[in-house]
This record gives sequence, C-alpha cells and structure tokens, in this order.
Amino acid sequence: MKILLTGSSGQLGNALLPQLSKLATVYAPLRQELDLANPAQLRRCIQDFKPDLIINPAAYTAVDLAETEKELAHTINVDAPACMAEEAHKLGAGLVHYSTDYVFDGEKRDAQGDWQAYLESDATNPQNVYGQTKLAGELAIAATACRHLILRTSWVYSLHGKNFLLTMLKLAREREHLRVVNDQWGVPNSAAWLAQATGDILASLFKTEDPTDWWQSNAGTYHLSAGGKTNWCEFAAAIIAIAGQQNSLGKTAPALQGIASSEYPTAARRPKNSMLNTQKIQTQFQLHMPDWQTCLQQCMQELQPLPHFES
Ligand SMILES: NC(=O)c1ccc[n+]([C@@H]2O[C@H](COP(=O)([O-])OP(=O)(O)OC[C@H]3O[C@@H](n4cnc5c(N)ncnc54)[C@H](OP(=O)(O)O)[C@@H]3O)[C@@H](O)[C@H]2O)c1
Repeated sequence: MKILLTGSSGQLGNALLPQLSKLATVYAPLRQELDLANPAQLRRCIQDFKPDLIINPAAYTAVDLAETEKELAHTINVDAPACMAEEAHKLGAGLVHYSTDYVFDGEKRDAQGDWQAYLESDATNPQNVYGQTKLAGELAIAATACRHLILRTSWVYSLHGKNFLLTMLKLAREREHLRVVNDQWGVPNSAAWLAQATGDILASLFKTEDPTDWWQSNAGTYHLSAGGKTNWCEFAAAIIAIAGQQNSLGKTAPALQGIASSEYPTAARRPKNSMLNTQKIQTQFQLHMPDWQTCLQQCMQELQPLPHFES
C-alpha cells in the first residue's frame, strides 16, 4: 500500500509522517518537489505515484493574509484538493483531507444563550476568506464522489512551525505583561494527538479485508477535536503555567490580562464559538477524546528546560 502525504513540513503533516509510516510506504514531497499551486504538477505526481491513499494536511493557513491573497488561498485550499479528489476517484484511492472550525460563523447557542458545539450537520457560514476557501475545498471533494474523509479540527498547535503555543512561550520569555483575547471559545488540538487519531482511524482501513465496504460505511465529514472548552487567554495561562513548572521560561511568569476581540483587531474576522461536537467520530471509530489539557501536558513534555546558571 502507498500513501501520498502533502504538507509534511507543517505542524500536522510533520506529526502524521511517523504515524503513516507505521501503516504503509509514504511518499511525502515538500513544496520544492510538489507545489500545490501548480495543478498540472499535482496531477502528474498523483498519476505517476498511484497512491492507494492521499493524506492532505497541506493548506494555505495564513488566516489574515488570506484576506488579501484570495486567489492563492483559493488555489491551494480549493483547486488542489479538488484535483486530488478527481485523481483519487480515477484510481479508486481514498483521500483524507483536513478542514476547520472556521467554516462556521461561531454564533451557535442553546436556548439559555450559552455557546453550543457545532455538529457536522449544522449550517456552515464562514466569516473570513480562509474559512470560505476551506469550505469550498470540502464541497469540491464531496462533488467528485471519491472515497474521502474530511476531518474538521480547530486551534492546532505543536512544538514545530508557527502556532499560538510557540508564540506565547516566546512572549512569556520576553515580556512582563501579556494581553490575550478571552471572548473566543474553542478547543486547542495538538498536532501529535490529531495524527495519532488519524492513524487509529486508518489502521482499521488497513486491517479490513474489504476496503470498498470500509469506505461505504465510513466516508464523510467528521469533527476531530479533543474534549473540553477554553478561550485563548485561558489557553495562554495553561501554557505559561506548565512552562513555569518545567522551568522553561527562565524568568518569572508574565501577568496575563484577558481582553475583548475588539481590543485586538485582525484583518480576518474570527468566530466567537469554535467548539466542535465530536460524538459522530467517537461512535463511528470508537475513538476516545482526551481533554485538551492532557494533550497540552503531553506536547509540552518534549520542551527542553532552560539551562540553570548559578548567580
Ligand atoms: N493551524 C490551525 O490552527 C488549524 C485549525 C483548524 C484547521 N486546520 C487545518 O489543519 C490542517 C493542517 O494545518 P497545520 O496547522 O498543520 O498547517 P501548517 O503548519 O501551516 O502547514 C501547512 C503545510 O502546507 C504546506 N503548503 C502550503 N502551501 C503549499 C504549496 N503551495 N505547495 C505545497 N505545500 C504547501 C506548507 O508547506 P511550506 O512549509 O512549504 O509552507 C506546510 O507544510 C490544514 O488543513 C488546516 O487548514 C489548522
């Protein structure tokens, strides 16, 4: 069995590589070898390699920049997955694609007015260009009728690449006072855990004697996220607390102040409520969702403590 993995230099792709290598032969070309903004090259790559499975964590993920780089975001988040789905369909291969909480408008509430987690069946209504392109990518895949899993997740972090965890660690080492948004609610997800969950799902595909039946039973869109709920300021507090316990700040922790989104304007509008209901994926694949704090602890265990110098 052969897997084509995109985006292996990114947070999730990097974490997926070792998981997928346990299951099959993986070809993971970097951008220099396979540029997703070049559809002809992408098509040729799939036709030549003839994968049994394409795993696509690659994406245009610069949420604010997407507001001005609309065409490039569309090419990578819509045209490239559409091309993967078409070619996968011709080969009878499967496609695993990742999408985002930003396909929703973040306004879902229960009768009491409290935020409610989104179901896969809820109406989408993206509020920024990135979310619009990710939704259009989902729809383009579904339109081809190829064997696919679309896994929507939220707030991805790791010790690799660009993300909120690494930004907070850097700022906490440099500053005495941090102001972080506290009115956007969601769930942080470690790339390592997302990759492990993907590996667990795919292990059942690789074990089955009837892949056609597996895809018929399992294809579709799922929400994949750890349990619990938080906001960015609480998430920052948890990061700084763990780093402090590990002595990886090298100084006293900065004071944290929660602020409203209106005090931190960004080019792209963000949803207030990013919570994803994961009941469907838990039931379908017998997955256990750890809470987000457990995943954060596990991820940060890999951080090296700063060297201690006697004064
Ligand atoms: N990050 C989040 O908070 C978040 C939240 C919800 C959903 N998601 C979704 O989760 C998935 C993984 O996200 P992530 O955080 O792992 O992304 P990431 O760290 O930003 O990585 C993106 C990957 O895509 C590759 N890529 C971008 N443009 C490319 C191109 N033209 N040709 C080839 N490769 C290209 C990048 O390669 P280079 O290294 O060469 O740039 C990188 O490997 C994405 O589908 C994203 O939409 C992410």
